[in-house]
Amino acid sequence: MDNFIIYGAYGYTGKLIVAEAVKKGLKPTVAGRNKALVQSLAEQYDLPSACFDYDDQRAWDEVLKNHALLLNCAGPFSLTIKEILPACVRNKVHYTDINGQIEVFDYIQSHHKDAVAENIVLMPGIGFDVVPTDCLAKYLHEQLPTATHLQIAFESSSGLSRGTALSVLNRFHQGSAIRENGIIKTMPAASVSKSINFNDKSKNAVGIAWGDIFTAYHTTGIPNIEVFTVMPEKTMNMMRRASKLGWLIKTNWFQKMAGNMIRRKIDGPSEEKREQLQSYLWGKVTDDKGLTIEAHMTTPESYKLTAITAVMCTKKILNGEVKPGYHTPAGAFGSALILEVEGVERSLVKGV
Ligand SMILES: NC(=O)c1ccc[n+]([C@@H]2O[C@H](COP(=O)([O-])OP(=O)(O)OC[C@H]3O[C@@H](n4cnc5c(N)ncnc54)[C@H](OP(=O)(O)O)[C@@H]3O)[C@@H](O)[C@H]2O)c1
Repeated sequence: MDNFIIYGAYGYTGKLIVAEAVKKGLKPTVAGRNKALVQSLAEQYDLPSACFDYDDQRAWDEVLKNHALLLNCAGPFSLTIKEILPACVRNKVHYTDINGQIEVFDYIQSHHKDAVAENIVLMPGIGFDVVPTDCLAKYLHEQLPTATHLQIAFESSSGLSRGTALSVLNRFHQGSAIRENGIIKTMPAASVSKSINFNDKSKNAVGIAWGDIFTAYHTTGIPNIEVFTVMPEKTMNMMRRASKLGWLIKTNWFQKMAGNMIRRKIDGPSEEKREQLQSYLWGKVTDDKGLTIEAHMTTPESYKLTAITAVMCTKKILNGEVKPGYHTPAGAFGSALILEVEGVERSLVKGV
């Protein structure tokens, strides 16, 4: 059985993934909770469809028995995963998603043994977060296997989709995170910053709780990990001020009010932006002797890349290329996975 289902298919990123899957000759079932939107997408591409709520366990059992894999696009994932993942495990269906939230990776990884027992693959994070960064982390570790510290940064100027903005809002009060001596440590939002060279220009970058804080440790075993994103100083300072209001931001009232504003005002990058822009990544590993290696990577725009890597990883899992259990993308497919995407360039900028 090689068919799969995309849940959250009519969202901004879900639609890009559906289009990419069809372009690659696949025929996924498109699913979500809004009947009219699911049907219209299904008709557009002549695909099978299913409409049900994310917490309708009976519906999951009914739908999943006819599929080999779920590609979950219904984020913020922290709000849906605890209903969706058990349904996949129970029905012996591979699970993938485009999650980037640390606590969601943690929850999914905690089902590793169940996945092995049920002969299924769990591979969250098959979008921009974390495929290119995970491949970069593994590549750097291959260059310096004694590495004890990893720093990764990215610059993506295309702006946020609605779901990404909602995910940022959903976890903002939890602040940023780093991994120190193997343990994930939380810290106030935007409390760490550094200048990083992107495209021959020095840019201000801010430490964030990106998925690699969880996944790069599993891929490389490097115990100290920081992830940064390029951010104007003005935005960084605003985040620092807002982090003092975490108590307010996490209230149901604030989440609802700000969430509604995001739903009204944010659409996500236009097709023109997705086609024209690129994303830039940088990574550095250091070991106890002070040896250092740095690398740069250029990729297609982040949402365009998410659609490409999500379909690429899904196809490989359906082809039986991954053994059962929890895996990171580069852990399963190697550091060269990202080089399979047209337009990706990777270069080593400093030798040992
Ligand atoms: N890994 C990456 O690099 C990457 C890239 C892009 C996006 N993302 C993540 O992917 C998620 C989706 O982003 P997006 O921009 O596509 O968001 P979006 O346009 O808001 O779409 C989200 C989709 O999920 C559905 N959904 C959300 N909550 C649901 C629930 N409780 N029950 C049923 N369906 C639900 C939505 O349906 P309704 O409209 O009916 O609510 C919609 O179809 C976000 O968490 C975002 O952070 C990650």
